[in-house]
Amino acid sequence: MQKPSGLALLLTTALLALSAMASERADAEPNGAALFAANCVACHGPAGKGDGPAAIAFNPKPRNLTDKKVMATVTDRNIADIVRKGGAAVGKSPLMPPFAALTQDQIQALIEFVRNLGKP
Ligand code: HEC
Repeated sequence: MQKPSGLALLLTTALLALSAMASERADAEPNGAALFAANCVACHGPAGKGDGPAAIAFNPKPRNLTDKKVMATVTDRNIADIVRKGGAAVGKSPLMPPFAALTQDQIQALIEFVRNLGKP
């Protein structure tokens, strides 16, 4: 996906969030930001830094998704696998839960959202 300008991204995000609230249409474009807020923020934190409130006692900590050095070693496929199957299935912490109910499109939206975390 082409990276839209900050304002366009913000507006799109706001509009998608509103439309998601208005109707949970199955055919609606999945919104990575909303999916992240609903499913990932408790552990990975609002900015993806791995500092969510649910993760205070975790060892290892949820991945800091904004750490460019670490994330450069993680492929899109790795993200899709850990989100779909959970940490235990890919040899990582079992505290990273599986999200088996997410669709391929939703996971793709999450990958795009995660890739943009930490970008200025
Ligand atoms: C209950 C807490 C929890 C939730 C909720 C959670 N994670 Fe995680 N996540 C973790 C932990 C803990 C790790 C660290 C695993 C490790 O390093 O062994 C992790 C690691 C990751 C990684 C790193 C993968 C890698 O190969 O290093 C990614 C990407 C990730 N999570 C994405 C997500 C996304 C996207 C969501 C929401 C759909 C999510 N997580 C929800 C706890 C959580």
